[in-house]
Amino acid sequence: MTVTIVGSQLGDEGKGGIVDLWGDAADVVVRYQGGDNAGHTVVEGGTEYKLSLVPSGAVRGKVGVLGNGCVVNPATLFEEIDDLRERGLDPDVRVARRAHVIFPYHRVLDGIEEEAKSESDQEVGTTGRGIGPTYEDKVGRRGVRVGDLVDPERLREKLEYVVPQKRALAEDVFGVDIGEEFDVASLYEEYRRYGERLREERMTVDAGPFLADRLDAGDEVMFEGAQGTLIDVDHGNYPYVTSSNPTAGGAATGTGLGPGVVGGGEVVGIVKAYLTRVGSGPMPTELGGVVGDTPGYDEQGEGDDEELATYVREEGGEYGTVTGRPRRVGWLDLPMLRHSTRVNGFTGLAVNHVDVLAGLDEVQVGHSYDLDGEELFTVPATTERWGDCEPNFRTFDGWEDVDWSAVAETGYDAIPENAREYLGYVSDQLDVPIYAVGVGPNREESVVLEDPFE
Ligand code: IMP
Repeated sequence: MTVTIVGSQLGDEGKGGIVDLWGDAADVVVRYQGGDNAGHTVVEGGTEYKLSLVPSGAVRGKVGVLGNGCVVNPATLFEEIDDLRERGLDPDVRVARRAHVIFPYHRVLDGIEEEAKSESDQEVGTTGRGIGPTYEDKVGRRGVRVGDLVDPERLREKLEYVVPQKRALAEDVFGVDIGEEFDVASLYEEYRRYGERLREERMTVDAGPFLADRLDAGDEVMFEGAQGTLIDVDHGNYPYVTSSNPTAGGAATGTGLGPGVVGGGEVVGIVKAYLTRVGSGPMPTELGGVVGDTPGYDEQGEGDDEELATYVREEGGEYGTVTGRPRRVGWLDLPMLRHSTRVNGFTGLAVNHVDVLAGLDEVQVGHSYDLDGEELFTVPATTERWGDCEPNFRTFDGWEDVDWSAVAETGYDAIPENAREYLGYVSDQLDVPIYAVGVGPNREESVVLEDPFE
């Protein structure tokens, strides 16, 4: 069977930890979209692994697959694999031949466009990894795929076609001086070598048939979504989105398996008990703000909201895994989660970071929005309208800080009563059962109510 793990909010919900928690039962862990813009932290036996491309399951000795829906930076891929090897692991990573390749010029163009947009305050706040420009080339039918890397002649041909266009874009449209990131000969040399290594290590696969065979053989397959529903290019708050589909449908198109395969399994929504956001865009339940990211927030503010945001940010370690940027912080947003539940068809939820909120007198939740005098229970389709939404809050009594490891050992009933009330409210509102509650960063610090593979 399959279990699909999807971020229900804006990314950074703690998906990696959940993949790791249930990954034991999985034989294969597959990423179906995104690239090295993701930041997955996995803690194993006190050792922390920060991965941005290699599927988290690799830490546990599973087969990790990067599906065709991914964009792959081979430099990052091999760096992560080599680092894991140095730390005594032996990751088995396969890469779809249909996946697209990120080149240095994609990264440069990502930065150039963000810079240009920033002149009119329109920047997205991307991770600068070249994700958007690579997907642009994919859809524009000029992308280089992993399958081309292992075919040097084809690689050269494609680079000779595409690189002059990129060079012209940088120089003539944006007026930027460019470097060897746009040089066909050196790109060819570097990427041909990546292709050689991919071939030597037998890493490339045709993802669809590969996975179908594994399923036929009775293997358990986990799809590991990166980013989150509200930064999905279709279902998120466009244009403040990533350029792929982190939502559950992406697990089918991004791997080469049918939607029935994904829908026939479990789809678990990962929820952070509050909300964080990296980059720009609306966030109706935001507390305080982050200068440079929160729209219209030009100067560091003061007051209770700001203090609360700082408290949660510090307690939760809410700094970007990839970029180190402070994340924007806010209360849980139920209209967002209702939207997410519909888009993804969640069959279960994992609510993380419940321990981070411990010790607060009260905890709030954005229950619905007010928009032009109307009460909304889900997210409006345009980002501008979403930005106009005012949250209607519900207030819950806070819960005490406890020995969370002991709670994890004892089970759900050991979670403080007020926290259980909060969790019950979320589950009732979404009409989805809670499968797990994260009460600390380690794998052991999760309360499991239901194992989706059983
Ligand atoms: P990109 O994916 O680098 O193009 O960035 C597009 C938007 O998605 C920006 O707002 C990023 O901050 C956001 N984003 C991309 N990856 C992640 C992630 O793993 N967690 C949270 N936000 C992300």
